Amino acid sequence: MFLVTGATGQLGRRIVRQLRLQESCVRAFVRLRSDYSELENRGAEIFIGELTQVRDIEKAVRGVQFVISAHGGEREALNYRANIDLIDAAKEHGVQHFVFISVLGTDRGYEDAPTFKAKREVEKYLQASGLNFTILRPSGFASNLISLAEQFQRTGVYLLIGDPQSRSSIVSTDDLARIAIASPTLEAAYHQIFSIGGPEILQRQAIPQIFGRIYDREPIILNPPLLAFDGLRTAIGLLNPTVKESLGTLRTLLANEFYITPEEVARIESVYGFKLESLENFMRRYVSP
Ligand SMILES: NC(=O)c1ccc[n+]([C@@H]2O[C@H](COP(=O)([O-])OP(=O)(O)OC[C@H]3O[C@@H](n4cnc5c(N)ncnc54)[C@H](OP(=O)(O)O)[C@@H]3O)[C@@H](O)[C@H]2O)c1
Repeated sequence: MFLVTGATGQLGRRIVRQLRLQESCVRAFVRLRSDYSELENRGAEIFIGELTQVRDIEKAVRGVQFVISAHGGEREALNYRANIDLIDAAKEHGVQHFVFISVLGTDRGYEDAPTFKAKREVEKYLQASGLNFTILRPSGFASNLISLAEQFQRTGVYLLIGDPQSRSSIVSTDDLARIAIASPTLEAAYHQIFSIGGPEILQRQAIPQIFGRIYDREPIILNPPLLAFDGLRTAIGLLNPTVKESLGTLRTLLANEFYITPEEVARIESVYGFKLESLENFMRRYVSP
């Protein structure tokens, strides 16, 4: 039995889908107010709880062999505490393998990014826990772009904040789900950290070009500088310092490059035994011109 947290999220949903397609038993950790009917229809066991409640975590972990931590959120209680509680509960209940979804660049010491800092601390805790684990550090998810592509279809406009030449290797969210699911039964993935991205390094300005090809439309790119974002963030900070702090993670994402090297692509493809999907291929599967 797999336990998947964040089972209604972009990644978690795909993990549950793929597990059910291969007829594996999966317990989906969801909130009462989440939209989990698809997971239920696919035959997942639904566990309703709150990841901020350690008692819920302890109950959810009982009887499972594998845990995949795929939840997200800006709050420290989710990014840090809930993962520490999950690891402790997994250890106590003899879980065989723990997959942690971290983030690419978590080891770069970004001071202004609470999510990155929390994930690095969780990684260290998991590595020292004695559990068998795989840590996946993905770049940005291709599924983030689906709603932007649909907007582009309507307006032809793409908002690109910051340097258009900044590079990334956006990962197919379906590939990442496949990697997460395979890790518990793949010896080469045990006690390993993988940086995960797509097969190509793209400049950010390539994204509207891809949308343009899919919809056969010349993109109109709006390109405010990062300084505009900083100004807005400072203004928000005057009204709400907490929101300003959490925007630090977004700023880190906008101001830095997140891509993996060809060697890292080759390592993933060799360990997991399949070819990573390009961003354009992913988008063409999800949006229709
Ligand atoms: N998206 C990216 O580009 C990206 C890139 C690198 C790494 N990551 C990491 O990958 C993981 C998955 O990201 P994602 O984009 O798939 O996440 P997402 O779509 O934002 O989904 C977050 C999930 O966490 C659940 N959740 C939030 N608060 C909860 C709580 N208190 N109790 C129980 N469940 C709760 C949400 O449930 P509800 O449906 O009820 O809200 C949802 O299922 C995260 O750890 C994220 O940091 C994401």
